Amino acid sequence: MKKILKQEKKNSGPPNRMNDLPYSDWMKFRKSFDFFEDDGSLYFKYITFFTKRTEKNRRSLVCIIYPKCDLNELENRTERKIVIKDADQIQLSRTHYKYLIVDLRNRFKNIREYNYFIKHELDIIFKYIINNVEDGKYFTFFIEDYISNTHMYPLSWALSYFGRKYARLTDEKIYISDEVNGEGQYSFSCVTFHNIKDERIPDYELFIPSTKASSEKIKFPRWIIPKPVPREKGVLLHPAKFPETIIGKFLNIFSPEDGIIFDPMCGTGSTQIACLRTKRNSIGFELEEQYVNIAKQRIALERMQPSLFESGNSASVFNLNAVDSKSYNRIKNKSIDYCITSPPYWDVLRSKGSEYQRGRRKNNLPTYYSENENDLGNIKDYSDFILKLADVYELTRPKLKDLSYMTIIVKNILKNRIQYNLAWDIVVEMEKRGYQFDGYTLWCQDDISMKPFAVGILWVSNTVHHYCLNFRKS
Ligand SMILES: C[S@@+](CC[C@H](N)C(=O)[O-])C[C@H]1O[C@@H](n2cnc3c(N)ncnc32)[C@H](O)[C@@H]1O
Repeated sequence: MKKILKQEKKNSGPPNRMNDLPYSDWMKFRKSFDFFEDDGSLYFKYITFFTKRTEKNRRSLVCIIYPKCDLNELENRTERKIVIKDADQIQLSRTHYKYLIVDLRNRFKNIREYNYFIKHELDIIFKYIINNVEDGKYFTFFIEDYISNTHMYPLSWALSYFGRKYARLTDEKIYISDEVNGEGQYSFSCVTFHNIKDERIPDYELFIPSTKASSEKIKFPRWIIPKPVPREKGVLLHPAKFPETIIGKFLNIFSPEDGIIFDPMCGTGSTQIACLRTKRNSIGFELEEQYVNIAKQRIALERMQPSLFESGNSASVFNLNAVDSKSYNRIKNKSIDYCITSPPYWDVLRSKGSEYQRGRRKNNLPTYYSENENDLGNIKDYSDFILKLADVYELTRPKLKDLSYMTIIVKNILKNRIQYNLAWDIVVEMEKRGYQFDGYTLWCQDDISMKPFAVGILWVSNTVHHYCLNFRKS
């Protein structure tokens, strides 16, 4: 009896207008990263999430363009009516799909094919989609980056820019896997659009980022899921700290022992702690005095660890504004071996609907960094924010040794149901400021409980994957 009640509780939730899933399955799907099992399961998850089995007593009609699995099997498994199309079949028909998938994985043998697709086919596909998918319903692209010997093309980025002309970009979910065809870690993106016109987004230029692979071919992981470590008490005062284990990994890849590491917005000094643990020296700037004090306390405590008694490595944190060029006078030109940092994710911490902040509010913990007018997390306009942030990295550039690396940890963000490509917009701006983008590692955060925002009504995922963007001073 107890078991049945427990099960009922698990399956209960608000009335569900989008699909037939129990509350617990909805919540599982909200997580913005998942492990890839096989194509059939992937299609099943997406189709059963974005449609009901029947609407008005008819089986929901779903379209898949360039499918990679058996149609009959999928129809039986999902209990939906599914039609399959290739790009050359799509001009004529006029239908009412409840959901549509375009599977672009493994589609392009070389970048010429991809460019041809973007220039000549994608527009036709989008026009077909917005005319045939019912208004207010969703459609998803499955797409992977194209990686050649010399270049990397983050295709999901290009697609997202392109698609915003037609519909509202609502979500990006990542699938990861350990090993595919003996080639090591693998990941791809599922980019979902809502078939409504997005009036608030200005027209985007077609943007195809191409990024040259490093000549040294430094190998960094495609994705990492660090083991969650409980946050120390004092550090809880800071709303968004990153784990030392991740920084340690990057330090080992991109910097030498006893090298000098810089973090222009170091918060509670996690970079400093990771540097001490991996025998590096570090310098950090932080605008807010209270975080500087926390960082200093943490450094002092860390130095008391027996393993660090003999350490001669320095760890300094200065209460300085990273946007002010004068702050950088204290660092010698070309003295920094590596920079690793994470900026405020625009002003999202100030967003009232931010589910992540509810728990903090309840516990009387700060939900945003500060009231300081120089705090980048207080800039209201998105473009202003990107430009100011890039100014910080431009000021950092002369301090870096030639050809050394910088890693910026950020997330694409969802605000008022619109996806902002923060990570990707930073890449575009960095390339204008003398940095070469060298690819990214996905940090999949597995220690966050899913929040039920908009369950039963809308697709809003919990974004728990971050981009660790790797750049090189060029
Ligand atoms: C994402 S947090 C960094 C967290 C840090 N990595 C940690 O683990 O604690 C961003 C930090 O940037 C700081 N910040 C914002 N604007 C700044 C500015 N103009 N100069 C220096 N720091 C700034 C904020 O106070 C915040 O602590």
